Amino acid sequence: MEFTLNETQRMVQQVARDYAERRLRPIAAQLDREGTFPTEQLQEMAELGLMGVNIPERLGGAEAGAVAYALAMMEIAAACASTAVTMAVTNMVAEVITAFGTEDQQTRYVPALTSGRYLAGAFALSEPGAGSDPGGMRTTATRVNGGYLLDGQKQWITSGAYAGVLVVWARTGGPGTRGISCFLVEQGAKGMKTGRPEDKMGLRASNTVPLTFECCFVPEEAMLGEPGSGFKIAMMALDGGRIGIASQACGIAQAALDASLRYAKDRQQFGKPIADFQAIQWMLADSATELDAARLLALRAAALKEAKQPFSREASMAKLFASEAANRICNRAVQIHGGYGYTREFPVERYLRDVRVTTIYEGTSEIQRTVIARAMLR
Ligand code: CAA
Repeated sequence: MEFTLNETQRMVQQVARDYAERRLRPIAAQLDREGTFPTEQLQEMAELGLMGVNIPERLGGAEAGAVAYALAMMEIAAACASTAVTMAVTNMVAEVITAFGTEDQQTRYVPALTSGRYLAGAFALSEPGAGSDPGGMRTTATRVNGGYLLDGQKQWITSGAYAGVLVVWARTGGPGTRGISCFLVEQGAKGMKTGRPEDKMGLRASNTVPLTFECCFVPEEAMLGEPGSGFKIAMMALDGGRIGIASQACGIAQAALDASLRYAKDRQQFGKPIADFQAIQWMLADSATELDAARLLALRAAALKEAKQPFSREASMAKLFASEAANRICNRAVQIHGGYGYTREFPVERYLRDVRVTTIYEGTSEIQRTVIARAMLR
């Protein structure tokens, strides 16, 4: 078993770390406070290859692999979790089009995502009445001359207002999950409306919107994959996406732990730094241990994906453990900071708000347990 990173992985990690320190960390609190979408930064990140880390070079990607992607995600998330989720979904969309798209779909959309010509990609699966159960979706795609008409509503769509291309799931007919197909819809498509951005607890510099489709025409060539294969495409994309969110959780937790260590050494009570108290030391030790375990799970899932081995169960384990551990770590960070941790003077309150959603999106912890248990019992 090999625990060392190769040269490409180290280089991608360093590029992401340097960029995050220089261009994201200094403005993350302001982006959060003002709810600003980091347009300029996303374009710079695309120039560095961060919008297509695991995409072939022929489509403008860095072709650095799934492990490098996880490492880059950890670095970006440690500085700005909002920017990280935008990056995560864009990489996921570029990957799903690369994996299932025709040559024409690939060359039309993937280079636009990896180069930053499109600020982001969006993944429109969830609906107001279909979150954990996307198989229960009600959006329809009705066959018409030359294509399909999309009708329905999508909910919680990350980057929905900024994405150049959106992957949209809809029912084309047929039973249950086998009656779902997948379409590539361009921003500005007639009949697609973007709703008011959600006023979220955290990730306030990311964009989350509802979408409405009313007789929205998409040509036949907009279908991604075979008719009726949409659900499986979504599940496979989410397997990879969950490694991204596990990595995002690790990044946020790393930032919280770094802040905790700094504060514990600096803050004096009873005539000595609070780091001298065993109560604080144990919190730091638990956080460091849980973070290491989370990183190892995320990197194992990424390594399996990179080796083209099955990784669905491992991705769910990584997402489940990393998101829950990261919540505990950010919560401890606020506790270590005491009253100051509850104010905006220190970043740990933002980390706690940002990390909260990682046990919810890309499949709740309960759904990850379902995926893991089904794999065990199969
Ligand atoms: N890979 C390939 N195929 C898969 C698969 C996988 N990982 N998981 C399921 N399938 C296939 C099954 O084999 C089955 O195929 P057949 O029809 O040939 O038998 C088909 O898909 C249906 O599978 P299930 O019967 O298991 O489907 P289900 O309805 O019971 O759902 C579930 C399974 C795991 C609960 C799934 O619904 C799920 O993952 N739910 C959570 C949804 C989710 O994660 N949403 C996140 C939204 S995106 C987001 O949050 C992005 C963001 O903004 C950050």
